[in-house]
Amino acid sequence: MSELNALHDLLKGLGDEVVRSGERIVGRRNADWSGIPAVPPLAVLYPRTTREVSQALSICHAHNQPVAVQGGLSGLAGGGCTQAGDIALSLERMNTIEDIDEIAATMTVQAGVTLQTVQERAHEAGMMFPLDLGARGSCTIGGNLGSNAGGNRVIKYGMARAQVLDLEAVLADGRIVGGVRKMVKNNAGFDLRNLLIGSEGTLGVITRAVLQLQARPGSVATAWCGLADFDRVTALLRLTRNRLATGISAFEVMWPGYYEYVLANVDGLRAPLSARHGCYVLLESVGGDPARHQADFEKVLQDCLEAGIIEDAVVAASDSDAREFWNVRDAPTAFPILMPRLIAFDISFSIADMGRVSQDCVARLGARWPGSTVLVYGHLGDGNLHVIVDIVGASDETVLQVEAMVYGLVEEYAGSVSAEHGIGLKKRGVLGHTRSRADLEAMRAIKLALDPRDILNRGKIFPDELLTRRMND
Ligand code: LAC
Ligand code: ZN
Repeated sequence: MSELNALHDLLKGLGDEVVRSGERIVGRRNADWSGIPAVPPLAVLYPRTTREVSQALSICHAHNQPVAVQGGLSGLAGGGCTQAGDIALSLERMNTIEDIDEIAATMTVQAGVTLQTVQERAHEAGMMFPLDLGARGSCTIGGNLGSNAGGNRVIKYGMARAQVLDLEAVLADGRIVGGVRKMVKNNAGFDLRNLLIGSEGTLGVITRAVLQLQARPGSVATAWCGLADFDRVTALLRLTRNRLATGISAFEVMWPGYYEYVLANVDGLRAPLSARHGCYVLLESVGGDPARHQADFEKVLQDCLEAGIIEDAVVAASDSDAREFWNVRDAPTAFPILMPRLIAFDISFSIADMGRVSQDCVARLGARWPGSTVLVYGHLGDGNLHVIVDIVGASDETVLQVEAMVYGLVEEYAGSVSAEHGIGLKKRGVLGHTRSRADLEAMRAIKLALDPRDILNRGKIFPDELLTRRMND
């Protein structure tokens, strides 16, 4: 059996400190947070260096041995789940911060460092790493880059790919590409860095990266706003974007269905405003001089109030006020317990369309499944909606129908089936709603050029029929 030969050669080449199997991996969590069940892997590899990753992959390549690439296992699309016949490759032991360069404002890290560690070390060095998302304590930089993670501050700082100057990765056959150069400008040929970022472990295994750090803001101003309708939400976005000299660092929108649901069902939340409104916005801006920045922020909100753009707003007077506003926005971490069968969407649209999309989505789902729970919220400044649908007693068939309805809407409005969580195993069947035939063919050509034996994260991202065709070529 080829997989036994692979295991034999892996053990021989890397030793049982790196290659673990049998009893030593019993009880290990092999799935991410997608809800997709994982099949236990034949073995788990825990390399400590890029060289060991390279050795491991060249052995797996020689044996046609599929490898599931894993970071912190907090993904929502199944990209890290192991499937039948896989060997798992965990980067968790490659967790060293190799360098902090205060002149270049960079941090060079190994892939297994957690996002929170990067944030904390950047803070200690008097700077900031702006990428931020709920799984910060367990997700790793390798996973963040592999999935091109988004999160809450994308509107100002961009997605994960915007935080990277260079990276090193190991290709399927063990060759090491890229490096750890600290330049912003590097136009010497194809940008392999940006090809690997967001490839969800299907093109290579990211082992190290040079992260760009940012100035630590002297001031963070946060407000909770109540608005009459979505048109006013976009008016608020335009006005605050134009008027706040240092820009907006978060613009999170919650529709009333979401707001009322979380206040009624999630423990420990406090309503920031007592009255009900047609839409809610959590607005955050970072600045330099605290007194001036806070005053400018409040003046802009006052003008919005007078212009009828907002109905009401409350500005956080302390970090703990701001935390309470964010708790209302971060309440979805409780959803899997409250709604074990929930159907979650992470979709994006042009911002101008989002009001209509959300209205259509709620209306169509409600008409077809009366009594269903439909919650809409998201990173509106980035065009990103999260839609949560819960239908009591829904069958697998119903789930598919709900997905068909929502992804149909994505196609209708020329949106994307994945804004920030990736495709993984979960969304490969609907990739065609967003990507053209020619796009998929180009992706497939790249995949086959870099991983001709299809060993890296096999079956992820690519729809089945695209993979099957490979066999007939
Ligand atoms: C959020 C995650 C689910 O924004 O992306 O809540
Ligand atoms: Zn999100």
